[in-house]
Amino acid sequence: MTIGQQENARLRWIMLNSSEAVVDDGVDIIQGLQENPKTLPCRYFYDDRGSQLFEQITDLPEYYPTRTEQSILATHALEIAQLTGSCELVELGSGSSRKTRILLEAYNTVHQELQYCPIDVSAGILKTTALELLCSYPRLKLCGLAGTYEQALAQLPARELENRMLIFLGSTIGNLNTQECDRFLSRIQQALKPGEFFLLGVDLQKDIAIVEAAYNDAQGITAEFNLNILNHLNWRFQGNFNLHQFEHRAFYNPIEHQIEMHLRSLEPQIAKLEALDFQVAFDAGETIHTEISRKFHLPTLLELLEAHALKPLQTWTDPNAWFGLILCQRQCVGVECP
Ligand code: AVJ
Repeated sequence: MTIGQQENARLRWIMLNSSEAVVDDGVDIIQGLQENPKTLPCRYFYDDRGSQLFEQITDLPEYYPTRTEQSILATHALEIAQLTGSCELVELGSGSSRKTRILLEAYNTVHQELQYCPIDVSAGILKTTALELLCSYPRLKLCGLAGTYEQALAQLPARELENRMLIFLGSTIGNLNTQECDRFLSRIQQALKPGEFFLLGVDLQKDIAIVEAAYNDAQGITAEFNLNILNHLNWRFQGNFNLHQFEHRAFYNPIEHQIEMHLRSLEPQIAKLEALDFQVAFDAGETIHTEISRKFHLPTLLELLEAHALKPLQTWTDPNAWFGLILCQRQCVGVECP
């Protein structure tokens, strides 16, 4: 897609991953592969190919979260736009922004100004999406931010509108363990002024068979997505992981209420990451833990949000209560209070 002057004037970029080495230095990879059991940070799924594969996952018949969340958004977007009043939308992990279009549509209808800041680790998908959105919404002003959540939350662009809503959809919060989740919600609290909003999409606890099918699709796209993390390491750090020597494993852990994704080594092997001057040995059957995807108990989560000064104003679910959308308002704490 080409970009005209008209679009360009409404577009700004902030590139955090090129300026700061946090994403690229690979220290977290070496650490993870030296743990027992081995782990890898799940954000390494999302190179450009990984983001594409994830987009394919969202269309799979077994992968219910995206379409369920989308249906909730479609039903309540106008209500959300009315509840928050005019505010700029800042989205963590925006990807293709497909679901966010529903919100943009509503804010465009209800309010005068339309300001959106998509944040993603994958600069490729961010660029394509930004240009498409600017063409779709002639009033939209957009500030794309490439970086991790931690980087982005620590240095969000100055507000363009009076108020802000942080958006975190797709149950990506489920990728964080309880400790990481606590830290993350504190950062959200810090990034918002009292009175501002946080919109959170979460996958809820349900029949295990339904959840497990969503991560073991018949077409094998989720397997490809999981294996692609090794591909990403190969190109980024001059690695020699052989994708044929690993297999995808995903299962529900009923004690932790989470899907766990692993890559299982099919034979004893050694892999190198030349650029990191690092090598790692695998026994046959040894696994790398690549992702957790927690499934939430809504009342418990609402308490947790409240404990981080993020007061739930409204919660919406689909008719099956498979997925939840929570609109929170940042409360004042301590000296902030009048
Ligand atoms: C986008 C992180 C929420 O955990 O369901 C999809 C990623 N992993 N299939 C999820 C994912 C395997 C997805 N999140």
